[in-house]
Amino acid sequence: MKKIKYLVLISVMFFVGASFLQSCKTSLEVKEKTGAVLWSENCSRCHYSPDPEDYNDAQWEVIAMHMRVRTNLTEEESEKITKFLQESN
Ligand code: HEC
Repeated sequence: MKKIKYLVLISVMFFVGASFLQSCKTSLEVKEKTGAVLWSENCSRCHYSPDPEDYNDAQWEVIAMHMRVRTNLTEEESEKITKFLQESN
């Protein structure tokens, strides 16, 4: 009987470990996202995704600062989106 409990414990630990590794994998994928993907996923939550051609490079710089706070993006994500918008206008 004790052996079974031990086995259950081992498999629970294995499952927790596997899902922990899985969560690390997910955050890596977030890091690999391009500016275009981040833009389409984040910038249409509250309003239509803005067209890159709507604003010039300097305007995107300012808008990105405002929208980074609203969207709760990391600096890296915000920079990727800004770069994408500036390269596509
Ligand atoms: C949490 C909601 C929210 C998210 C997410 C969001 N915005 Fe906005 N956005 C707003 C609101 C509200 C306004 C209205 C103007 C203001 O408050 O600055 C706005 C206005 C704008 C404007 C118009 C600015 C102007 O002066 O005409 C642009 C462009 C814009 N957002 C771009 C973006 C981009 C790019 C992203 C993604 C990084 C984004 N938004 C994500 C809420 C959001």
